[in-house]
Amino acid sequence: MAITIKSNKEIELMREAGKILAITHEELEKALRPGMSTWDINRIGEEVIRSYGCIPSFLNYNGYPASICVSVNNEVVHGIPSKKKIIKEGDIVSLDAGVIYKGYQSDAARTHGIGQISAEAEKLIRVTRESFFEGVKLIKEGVHLNEVSKAIQAYAEGHGFSVVRDLVGHGIGTALHEDPQIPNFAQRRRGPRLQAGMTLAIEPMINAGKYSVNWLDDDWTVVTADGSLSAHYENTVLVTKEGYELLSVR
Ligand code: MF3
Ligand code: CO
Repeated sequence: MAITIKSNKEIELMREAGKILAITHEELEKALRPGMSTWDINRIGEEVIRSYGCIPSFLNYNGYPASICVSVNNEVVHGIPSKKKIIKEGDIVSLDAGVIYKGYQSDAARTHGIGQISAEAEKLIRVTRESFFEGVKLIKEGVHLNEVSKAIQAYAEGHGFSVVRDLVGHGIGTALHEDPQIPNFAQRRRGPRLQAGMTLAIEPMINAGKYSVNWLDDDWTVVTADGSLSAHYENTVLVTKEGYELLSVR
């Protein structure tokens, strides 16, 4: 499938989806506390999304059974919320959410610490977020996608962490996953040339240990193979002539 270029009207709808998603993440961050279940987190997120008349895009996506992916500690992404899974002080919790507004999608993820967390966990969350910006700051029309991927990898590995290989970012628009695929690690080819009007979900998944991951028997939850911590940071990004605009931040 070709990479789609969005019109100004479509971009306006994606801005609105992104704004509501940013609010959802703000509300989730405020609500997080030890003792709550990962299902509580899902319920709160879904309520915020629906209160704006939006649809949570993950719910029933390929059979995924919730609106917010909640991944704790060694879980990388796609953790399934559960009433039995209680978050506690010292945990790190990755929250991934998607919103559909008038047919247009936004996708974003954040990792938060619960109360006091270890210095290593703190650093992992910070470096993961910073690696996103190291890549994204290169974005403008004419740049090849591999430059972005390379910068994310160099930053994360430069801080002693590793980049998950088995999952990648993606184009986004009327579908949650559009072309191109966006690896967070270097490719041997330079990849597509970015053009103004492309909208990209860039989402480094960074492990404190080695990069290998496994899938749990629920067929969703991705965990680090070595049991190390993992963090995730994602925004929906618009490519412009001069640079970029973050659509899921306000
Ligand atoms: N944010 C995830 C991604 O970018 C989507 C989660 S998959 C779902 O691929 F099934 F949970 F929706
Ligand atoms: Co995504």
